[in-house]
Amino acid sequence: MATIGIFFGSSSGVTRGAAELLCEQLSGSELIDMEEDFDGIEQFEEFDVLLIGSSTWGQGDPQRDWVDPLFDLTNDSPDLSGKKVAFFGAGDQDKHGEHFLSVLGKMHDLFVSLGADAYGFTSTDGYDYKFSLAERGGKFCGLGIDDVNQEDLTEERVVSWANQLKIEMGL
Ligand SMILES: Cc1cc2nc3c(=O)[nH]c(=O)nc-3n(C[C@H](O)[C@H](O)[C@H](O)COP(=O)(O)O)c2cc1C
Repeated sequence: MATIGIFFGSSSGVTRGAAELLCEQLSGSELIDMEEDFDGIEQFEEFDVLLIGSSTWGQGDPQRDWVDPLFDLTNDSPDLSGKKVAFFGAGDQDKHGEHFLSVLGKMHDLFVSLGADAYGFTSTDGYDYKFSLAERGGKFCGLGIDDVNQEDLTEERVVSWANQLKIEMGL
């Protein structure tokens, strides 16, 4: 069975809630809270599948617990080839629609540049925002949740994404 590491950073608990629900849905998965449990970028090498979760802040910036790990990944350039990776995170399409979920796009580009294969792209239908760096070929390069404006859709979005990953990644 594939080992799955769910790495998440979350300031007000929205991305954490998604990470916990993903962990319930995906057997063989383990939660790594970037604030409490993260020891260093070698930890990414321990898993076959990496689910990378961060809310977006500032001008499309990562949640604060991801700042140092992303810097270390960029500097040290570990070889992540053979890893399957997918991205998820919270944003606010109404108040922050000029950079909705943008960190997902930044993290996607970094992990892919290190050799990982990206899965779990989703439709942008049902969201209303101005701009996002998370768009790739008309889709989001991961799962976007917006608990501020669309709380009633969150659980369904997360469960449906977990099922999509099971199929796409053969979990
Ligand atoms: C100061 C501030 C800046 C934010 N910037 C963005 C942004 O650029 N893009 C976005 O999609 N959401 C933005 N948000 C919304 C947060 O990502 C959203 O509240 C999210 O649910 C937080 O998730 P978390 O609890 O997992 O950290 C911002 C929120 C605040 C308070």
